[in-house]
Amino acid sequence: MFKTIKGTKDILPSEIHKWHYIETTLRRLFHRFGYQEIRTPVFEETALFQRGIGETTDIVGKEMYSFRPEESSPSLTLRPEMTASVMRAHLQHNLSNISATTKLFYISELFRKERPQAGRQRQFWQFGSECIGSQTPESDAETIALMMTIFKALGVKHSTLKINSLGDPESRLKYREQLQAYFKPHFDTLDDISKVRFETNPLRILDSKNPDLQTLIHDAPKLIDALDQDSMNYFQHVQSCLKAYSIDFEIDHRLVRGLDYYSHTAFELIGNELGAQNALAGGGRYDGLSKILGSKQLVPAVGFAAGIERLIITMDKLDLFSEIKPNAPTVYVVLQTKEAKTWAFKTVHQFRVKGIAAEIDLQERSMKAQMREANRLGAQYVLIVGQRELESQMYALKHLESSKQETLSLEDIETKLLNAIELCIA
Ligand code: HAM
Repeated sequence: MFKTIKGTKDILPSEIHKWHYIETTLRRLFHRFGYQEIRTPVFEETALFQRGIGETTDIVGKEMYSFRPEESSPSLTLRPEMTASVMRAHLQHNLSNISATTKLFYISELFRKERPQAGRQRQFWQFGSECIGSQTPESDAETIALMMTIFKALGVKHSTLKINSLGDPESRLKYREQLQAYFKPHFDTLDDISKVRFETNPLRILDSKNPDLQTLIHDAPKLIDALDQDSMNYFQHVQSCLKAYSIDFEIDHRLVRGLDYYSHTAFELIGNELGAQNALAGGGRYDGLSKILGSKQLVPAVGFAAGIERLIITMDKLDLFSEIKPNAPTVYVVLQTKEAKTWAFKTVHQFRVKGIAAEIDLQERSMKAQMREANRLGAQYVLIVGQRELESQMYALKHLESSKQETLSLEDIETKLLNAIELCIA
């Protein structure tokens, strides 16, 4: 028997209503904030991610699924994130010619060769947004407001928003030197990974969860103290916008994010219901990415992305799906006698064509078993057909929740079922 590969999961019909509910909510909210959907290919040139995300990051260093379809072709990679692909598409199709600000969202599956654990998969889903073309603190705040509105609308209300500023590239370079000077006398006490990061990306040492390093990290110089005045003003402005939206946040001086393209604002949403993998979402400003990807002009941008599996774990723990019903049939047609079969199948087909979700047994089971199945599926009504009904052309329609039964003509039944659907939609 074949099984799913480690770090991947099937999404079964018993779970799919959760995904549909989330996706419908997302599409409604992205639309409300003026975002249009973009879909990009699942694989791209490896160099796009190497350059975009950064050679020294964990994602590029050890987590990408890369392959060469033919010996002579460039290396390709299953996308580990969406931001580089979305910026590539924006530049490739000159979307800035259509509008000065392009607001794009996605709901996409991604691939990272990480060690699988609760909330961490090798194939996982993200939703996210990229606001491309604006270099204003208002667009950073709007992105954060969008993210918070989505989580609130889905019922996840008590997570912690952490923000930081990574400043402009010059401030960050200055900070990098300060950090190296600070960690140098303690180099021998660093763990192996931090020793590597000391050379490649000392800011990432601050991300370490190693308990032995926490005091050293705590006393390290703060990035905020290395920011120049313009970067400070930008960060202050983002904060006042968030206050105007009544969005609570904490400033986390150690928040550096695991992707290299960020400048100025960086943020993460931390969930209370998750274990070690507690980041529900993350994002920030990435003004430098367009030039890294070969654009002559700087195309400023800001965005966020959230993991859907982690969102579902959280919503399950908060019992937020219990009110959401899986797709249930409006009517289940129950056969009392075999003679009613032709009529019943024809009627079910007519119902379906007219827009009524109708179901019928395909196993030739007893009436009792058919009733049990109708209940299991959560059908609103059952329509019972036997010899007597066929002769009189009047049929028994039973509302399962109230057990109320009526005898009606087929025409009246259709009207009733269509009304029931309208009531559900309203
Ligand atoms: P990221 O922090 O790498 O950012 O990922 C965003 C979110 O994706 C995480 O907070 C987490 O919820 C989810 N996630 C990441 N890896 C996994 C995994 N292996 N299994 C399950 N969920 C995972 C980015 O990807 C940036 N592109 C975000 C961004 C958009 N920045 C600007 N625009």
